[in-house]
Amino acid sequence: MQQLSTKHLLGIKDISVSDIELIFETADNFKDVLNRPIKKVPSLRDITIANVFFENSTRTKLSFELAEKRLSADVINFASGNSSVKKGETLIDTVNNILAMKVDMVVMRHSSPGAPHFLSKNIKANIVNAGDGTHEHPTQALLDAFSIREKLGDVAGKKVAIIGDILHSRVALSNIFCLQKLGAEVMVCGPITLLPKHIASLGVKVELDVKKALAWCDVANVLRIQLERQQIKYFPSLREYSLYYGVNKKMLDQLDKPIVIMHPGPINRGVELNSDVADSEHSIILQQVENGVAIRMAVLYLLAGVK
Ligand code: CP
Repeated sequence: MQQLSTKHLLGIKDISVSDIELIFETADNFKDVLNRPIKKVPSLRDITIANVFFENSTRTKLSFELAEKRLSADVINFASGNSSVKKGETLIDTVNNILAMKVDMVVMRHSSPGAPHFLSKNIKANIVNAGDGTHEHPTQALLDAFSIREKLGDVAGKKVAIIGDILHSRVALSNIFCLQKLGAEVMVCGPITLLPKHIASLGVKVELDVKKALAWCDVANVLRIQLERQQIKYFPSLREYSLYYGVNKKMLDQLDKPIVIMHPGPINRGVELNSDVADSEHSIILQQVENGVAIRMAVLYLLAGVK
């Protein structure tokens, strides 16, 4: 069996192209499994996985849990909101208590960048980063690139514009690393206040005009405005943001070329993306969600083979 070169999936920055390709090939097989009448395989029958979420989630949490159950793993779920974290328990104590119950893998979402990296240095289990603050969201980037590969045949040579709140987005950073490793050209687009100052040093194009970004790209990955991470005002109002940066059907109709529209969810409909685009034939948003289960099955299955 081919193995990943890493015991943990902490981010895309530090994994190799061959690791990404192995995850995609494994996800292809699991996608076939998910389309069968019996969608379950016994691959992780002896493995116990804890989903430890210190931040809200719909897609990632459900997708990991379903992936784990499709692989026949035993699953426990922890949400910080109704836990002893509220009584002052530390991250390391919380996780060590979970591990004392003989857990093999931990899938963790946390608001602090680097939290899963910290854990990986202090505990024995395999760690999967399910989003750490504004840093990385590796399985989202993998499922996004996998969805582009599925839709357009390949990621190499494609032009991908990431549009929106780049400053607060872990999805943007993981996507930039993943797409570049796979040979895509990447552009970021948004108001200047929502673009990190040195973003061009990552080798991406920078564009302030959303119409120019749409005209340039094969794929537009539109990101959510993350109001929950914004302590100051980065733009005058949501109405103004929508007016200048919201992607609508009229803009797409003016392009004389095909375009693929993506969004990691949750969508602020009518802000960064209008419903007439989110629900249009250009959109692969629900295919992204579907592919997320196969990608997460692949990641968990492959990591379980690395001790
Ligand atoms: N895409 C994503 O991470 O969505 P959730 O926050 O709902 O998990």
